[in-house]
Amino acid sequence: MSKNLYIKTFGCQMNERDSEIIEQLLAQEGYIATAEPEGADLILINTCSIREKAEQKVFSLLGSLRPEKQKNPKLLLGVTGCVAQQEGEQIRARMPHVDLIIGTQQIYRLPEMLDRLSQGVTSKEIATDMEASFTIPPFQKLLNIAPSPLPVAASGCKRFVTIMQGCDNFCSYCVVPGTRGRETSRQVADIVEEVEILVSQGVREITLLGQNVNSYGTTNQVADQQINFPKLLRKVAGIKGVQRLRFTTSHPKDLTEELMRCFAEIDNLCPHFHLPVQSGSNAVLRRMNRKYTVETYLAKVDLLRQYRPDIALATDIIVGFPGENIDDFQATMDLLNRVRFHSSFSFKYSDRPHTRSAEFGDKISEEEKNRRLSTFQQQQDLISFERNCEYIGKKVEVMVEAVHMKNLKGRTLGNHIVHCPDSAASLVPGDLVMVRILDAGKHSLKGKIEN
Ligand code: 5AD
Ligand code: SF4
Repeated sequence: MSKNLYIKTFGCQMNERDSEIIEQLLAQEGYIATAEPEGADLILINTCSIREKAEQKVFSLLGSLRPEKQKNPKLLLGVTGCVAQQEGEQIRARMPHVDLIIGTQQIYRLPEMLDRLSQGVTSKEIATDMEASFTIPPFQKLLNIAPSPLPVAASGCKRFVTIMQGCDNFCSYCVVPGTRGRETSRQVADIVEEVEILVSQGVREITLLGQNVNSYGTTNQVADQQINFPKLLRKVAGIKGVQRLRFTTSHPKDLTEELMRCFAEIDNLCPHFHLPVQSGSNAVLRRMNRKYTVETYLAKVDLLRQYRPDIALATDIIVGFPGENIDDFQATMDLLNRVRFHSSFSFKYSDRPHTRSAEFGDKISEEEKNRRLSTFQQQQDLISFERNCEYIGKKVEVMVEAVHMKNLKGRTLGNHIVHCPDSAASLVPGDLVMVRILDAGKHSLKGKIEN
């Protein structure tokens, strides 16, 4: 008999991909994924602990599910992802109604755990067996679950493919090395096979995924030592059916000229690059343990733009890192004004458990962090708007992502969202159309199909 599965996913694309893997694994056990928690037999919360706010959301959602469990004792509730990995004990203590707590590298054991629950083994006994699940083993199994065919509507025209997991960089503020473990690269053949399966299902755009994709193949047991990230990119780009290729996320210190050259030479590699800088102050970068300086970052940006002048750059910024003074913050604003990122994700620094910066003195007040964040975001909004206005009048290639009534939504090669109201043509997700850009806002463009 089929059962309903509801997964709520928080956080990054890595979590989104893990949720897909969980759906695939549990589909083999008769679970059908549903869009609503009502009527679910199993609810899984795939969690994020990157900032305190993300973690608070998880605890409040878990709390709000307590009455559901009381109403329907057969309902199973599980927690996966980074909060489960890092705060398993706390979840057990504060949320006794949770049946399963699964570390980031153990999701492949879910079917086995559900089986044991159904055989009457208690959550507590499973938890004791699972203690080992919170030590992160260096294994490949999880990464090598090839996607089973999914209906086109569910799979859509673009998909993520994990190429590596974990992080060895130990930025002083970051929980990821703790929650995802050491860098592990996946075998080339497995990546190629997964991409081939996806394109055969109609997927047109592939995003290669990892915490630090440009150190792919440098830190572990990929059998063919001749491989590195630029070579992998060329291999995947050459797979027939891959119309658009992207990747995320990159560490500036590992951005080589060989990778920059890919943007000039690989036709289907999209001119869009997420290159988190975090701060414009060398003093702050040093305390963050980022291992580059503002000068080397800027030199790389300049060279990258020589290889691909139309590249759309996005970044991540943390404001209010411990000890960040007004001059340091101004240096971040200067960097923003110098690079003029197309977009950015900016965050207030947040103390995280087991990170080095949590121990640093000279913390910045919440009020000041708010002020800096809104100063930064206002300026970024202005720059994004100005950058978007540069497209007005141009004809650009757009991949259709959704059509609702006659309103089309898609993305440019640079990953800008484009809306085309009143599109008469009958189009489906994955189609490529040429669009004349007529108007721009800070977050999106507006245009008219002009094939
Ligand atoms: N506080 C605030 N932002 C953080 N990030 C990571 N850790 C923290 C933290 N402790 C941000 C960084 C990273 C992005 C994914 O989240 O900018 O690039
Ligand atoms: Fe975290 Fe730094 Fe690794 Fe990115 S590079 S995941 S910020 S430790």
